Amino acid sequence: MKDILNELEARRRDARLGGGEKRVAAQHAKGKLTARERIELLLDDDSFEEFDMFVAHRCTDFGMEGSRPYGDGVVTGWGTINGRQVYVFSQDFTVLGGSVSETHGQKICKIMDMAIQNGAPVIGINDSGGARIQEGVDSLAAYGEVFHRNVLASGVVPQISLIMGPCAGGAVYSPAMTDFIFMVRDSSYMFVTGPDVVKTVTNEVVTAEELGGAGTHTRKSSVADAAFENDVEALTEVRRLVDFLPQNNRAKPPVRPFFDSPERLEPSLDTLVPDNPNMPYDMRELILKTADEGDFYEIQEEFAKNIITGFIRLEGRTVGVVANQPMVLAGCLDIESSRKGARFVRFCDCFEIPLLTFVDVPGFLPGTTQEYGGVIKHGAKLLYAYAEATVPKVTVITRKAYGGAYVVMSSKHLRGDFNYAWPTSEVAVMGAKGATEILYRSELGDPDKIAARTKDYEDRFANPFVAAERGFIDEVIMPHSTRRRVARAFASLRNKTATVPWKKHDNIPL
Ligand code: HXC
Repeated sequence: MKDILNELEARRRDARLGGGEKRVAAQHAKGKLTARERIELLLDDDSFEEFDMFVAHRCTDFGMEGSRPYGDGVVTGWGTINGRQVYVFSQDFTVLGGSVSETHGQKICKIMDMAIQNGAPVIGINDSGGARIQEGVDSLAAYGEVFHRNVLASGVVPQISLIMGPCAGGAVYSPAMTDFIFMVRDSSYMFVTGPDVVKTVTNEVVTAEELGGAGTHTRKSSVADAAFENDVEALTEVRRLVDFLPQNNRAKPPVRPFFDSPERLEPSLDTLVPDNPNMPYDMRELILKTADEGDFYEIQEEFAKNIITGFIRLEGRTVGVVANQPMVLAGCLDIESSRKGARFVRFCDCFEIPLLTFVDVPGFLPGTTQEYGGVIKHGAKLLYAYAEATVPKVTVITRKAYGGAYVVMSSKHLRGDFNYAWPTSEVAVMGAKGATEILYRSELGDPDKIAARTKDYEDRFANPFVAAERGFIDEVIMPHSTRRRVARAFASLRNKTATVPWKKHDNIPL
């Protein structure tokens, strides 16, 4: 009996060695952790339960039968993050470059199936040379099976991808279909075709980092949601994110203890909006002063900075925040901010996370770049996402809410539950100057007359009261009481139910 136990221990030791000490050292030399070290940092101490430690590939081509390492280049299983269950796979670059074989894919599929069945998030750590070249089409089939599960799991359990090494070719499409992608600066990249192919086909000379590094994907393409300095920081931040999320689409987000009174007033907010309507101010200040303990988890901080998206808590409960940022493009909506906002709103709605919207939007950004780029369709995404969302929706207009953008930003007309406005807000078709220039074109030569007309328009429309008279604004609130009002609103909506007509699925303008 003792021999058998010893043999098991020996086999386990062998499996835990991965690709061996030399390759582990090479991994460390690149500033990267190993697959197992990453899991250890991601999960609570001693919570990891591994599956399929002894799985080995079955390939007999190209001499592969001579080397059948345990685990086959991926470590899979489940564990907990602050006591809550998650499933995890972590590709092991030290074993055949973390490449995906038939059996490697089967291991990933097994934990994805269990995650869907048991209703817990999936976290995938990607560090792989792509399809196992020796296996050919079997490897492609494995990818296909994983892709299909990504789609089945979408909107059922949260899926989070960490890119911590190479992720190239068709392999990128598995993370691409997950809810969040996080990258590590200088040690991870993602692209469909690499620099060599790009050079051959388009004659462009570009490095892997420029083509698909963390900077590119967080600032230019918006493929990734955040970039971190190293593996440790990325894993720590994913733990923080998971704390905000529900386990699945039938569970409520977790309720955390909080030490910040929901009654807290913030007198400084009474002077946040400058007297001059053309002066910017930082909308992030309002978010931080509204949140429990000023804790804000921002998503896509580096992309489309004219809209801010992320998670806060109110009375310990997760709330998704979408806010126009007057500091960038005056807070205008455009193609990129509409896409960013829409995806975030849809994530929150999938997972029953209530939505808080702060509005200061002068309209959609004009220009040929926007129109040729399809701002009509992209802008419609945000409108559509808000309109279909049935989660509790609370909106606060701080200043401008003009034109179509007013309607888009979680207005009453899209079934906003509580629509508040600060006294500084202006709910109108457009700004007073623009409106006067259209209505009184014949008087444009007379500056005094135009000034008087503009003042008249401002007095009539540059306020929240016309909309409040019609019930489009439920209440005009004091800026300093925003946290209290918003927290009470969400508290009153905890049992909200709202439905949409039966459909197979919708047809959002993609
Ligand atoms: C089998 C692979 C492999 C792969 C790497 N290795 N990629 N084995 N299949 N795809 C092995 C290497 O042979 C090597 O083995 C070890 O992993 C480490 O690789 P190195 O090249 O030494 O590492 P490095 O210099 O860091 O370069 C990493 C790399 C490079 C840039 C990823 O390995 C590379 O270019 N690999 C091939 C990438 C590729 O073309 N993949 C297929 C793409 S098509 P030893 O024994 O020497 O340590 C694809 C389609 C997916 O993925 C489609 C989905 C639908």
